[in-house]
Amino acid sequence: MKQIFAFDTKTLTYVLGTDDDGRLFHLYWGKKIKHSDFSVDELNDANSNHSDLDGACQEYTVFGGKMYRNCAFKCTYFDGCRDALYTYKSHIESENELVITLQDKAYGTELVLHFVHYSDSDVITRYVEFCNNSADDVKVDKFMSCEVNLPGLEPYYIQNTNGSWGGEFQVKTEKLLAGYLVFDSRKGTSGHTNQPVFAAHHGATEKNGTVYYGALGYSGSFKVEAQCDFENRTRIMLGINDFDFSYTVKSGEKLVSPKVYLGCADGFAQMSNDMSKFAVAHILPQSFADKPLPVLYNSWEATGFDVNTENQLSLAKKAAEIGCELFVMDDGWFGERNDDRAGLGDWFVNAEKFPDGIDELIDGVNALGMDFGLWFEPEMVQRDSDLFRAHPDWIYHYPKRANSEMRHQLVLNLTKPEVEEYAFSAMDEMLKNHNIRYIKWDMNRPFSEIGAENLENGQELWLRHTEAVYRIADRLKEKYPYLQLEACSSGGGRADLGAMEHFDMVWTSDNTDPVDRLAIQYGFSQFYPVKCMRAWVTDWNSDKRPVPMDYRFNSSMQGSLSVGANLDRLSAEDLQKCKDNIAFYKKIRPLVQFGNLYRLKTADKNGYYATEYANGDGAILFVCGVGTALFAQRLHDVTLCGLDENAQYIYTLGGRKYTKSGAYLMNKGIVIDDWNPLSSVIVEFEKV
Ligand code: GLA
Repeated sequence: MKQIFAFDTKTLTYVLGTDDDGRLFHLYWGKKIKHSDFSVDELNDANSNHSDLDGACQEYTVFGGKMYRNCAFKCTYFDGCRDALYTYKSHIESENELVITLQDKAYGTELVLHFVHYSDSDVITRYVEFCNNSADDVKVDKFMSCEVNLPGLEPYYIQNTNGSWGGEFQVKTEKLLAGYLVFDSRKGTSGHTNQPVFAAHHGATEKNGTVYYGALGYSGSFKVEAQCDFENRTRIMLGINDFDFSYTVKSGEKLVSPKVYLGCADGFAQMSNDMSKFAVAHILPQSFADKPLPVLYNSWEATGFDVNTENQLSLAKKAAEIGCELFVMDDGWFGERNDDRAGLGDWFVNAEKFPDGIDELIDGVNALGMDFGLWFEPEMVQRDSDLFRAHPDWIYHYPKRANSEMRHQLVLNLTKPEVEEYAFSAMDEMLKNHNIRYIKWDMNRPFSEIGAENLENGQELWLRHTEAVYRIADRLKEKYPYLQLEACSSGGGRADLGAMEHFDMVWTSDNTDPVDRLAIQYGFSQFYPVKCMRAWVTDWNSDKRPVPMDYRFNSSMQGSLSVGANLDRLSAEDLQKCKDNIAFYKKIRPLVQFGNLYRLKTADKNGYYATEYANGDGAILFVCGVGTALFAQRLHDVTLCGLDENAQYIYTLGGRKYTKSGAYLMNKGIVIDDWNPLSSVIVEFEKV
């Protein structure tokens, strides 16, 4: 029986339909349209080489029958049958959710497609459940979270990133004219290179042009697969990477996909702002989602592995004086951790560095009015550690293969319940016994030799490991509701919406050069809330490319401001600059962390970045130069966004006070004089 299913979001309509055979098709996703206008067309084989289904827009394509393009789902039944056929069984519609159940009638198994939608947002949450209602095991070979059918036959530009350690989130855009375009990770984390996201458009800009976009909430090996088919239709799937993945779903059990967040916007600014607002309201751990994040000091860049009560307290005193609210002691405090060759796994306080324990430091930090945080790397172990000596079988390994090391470390097999429990209890013990209110959870190497002898189907480890990470994070947060968690993986190697569902923020990149950071932050801000983007002011590169202290702050204030410079080496003048900038940041923090973001100018086109954050009360504009192209020039036509056309705004620029209308600022814009290499300016616009 033919049926139409439709729902509206803030400005869009999404429509699906079944044909007489119960096959589920995608009919529409775009500007609001009356649902009753839609109907399902009959399919016909185009000719003997292109089947009806091959060109059809199915909502969730399974591998089976006359299907030759890529599928979202593939499985192997107990009898060896690898042909899936899922048709309509039932549906449930509520105010915020459409749930459609498809069934393979020959085996009784079900695919349950969830569409969660909101009247105040254009972001839709999608996920799929595979329910094994049959009497036998079923091996799921591919299980994407969604398939997106993009409208029209005009080729799309597809945006993702091509980053690396120290150069994360480098935005790249390619036009997909034919075949496949794949962005993925096979590393066990989402990694530094591609992101589990896409933006598809026909030449959109920051301010306008339709952009379809999606971001997967998953921190493991992922795949984003775009295809332009023989009829020039573009489809995109996001999900767990099917490379080396399968999952045996036992009779009576179900497999749930990671969530994917999809939207459609007018321009990239709207895309980022819609995603960011949605993430704050629905994705981030809710205990801190709507609260501004503290200005933290992290000691890694200052003291490395050489931590002790004295040097940490010395830094902490200065950190408190300049206005930091949280002090995080990074690597080096545990086990025999004097360099990166030993100690991971031994999560007890190093008695030589802290002969009287760690509480003297924590109490000292608390007495200075700051909370205390600590670094862990709970998924790892090193050969030179008590943990490895006691449990050499706790790592991923194959009996006949030597384990590869990276940074001298090995990956713990978190799919073993006892290993998951150990990782949890290591942090739990420290939290139970000390006033620790923040954990930076690091993960410094990809998986290798991925043997897990405890699993009947070893290919499940990719998903099981990631789920264990999330479970541990959730348990910690449940037991210690005041605990803030930061996800880190050698910088931004695990910065995705999956991590942000369980951790309050992420470490963006180990590269803290304030100029390099602008490109990294530009890429990060496309899909992720800048609130979650930890940004330290450090001494990185200061011997090679000295950058003025104000510039360093201007760069870091565009996210969640933090400090990592060696405060013991800063001049009194620089410490005062730190203090002034931190005080200023605290004032503008709600605007930066919760305002609308507009990337007005970028270095590739203009030689500088101009980034604006606006809310109903005004705006703040950060302008930072990159390179020497603009030596002694003026920056013309810096036009703002997101202001009230009819309101007046007061601002000071170059020592002069101005009052201009929102219409003037958004259409004529401002001119910035006296521009020099590495100039940086902040302009505050206050609504009258
Ligand atoms: C990783 C992190 C850094 C720091 C070091 C400590 O590289 O990204 O911020 O914590 O580990 O070893």
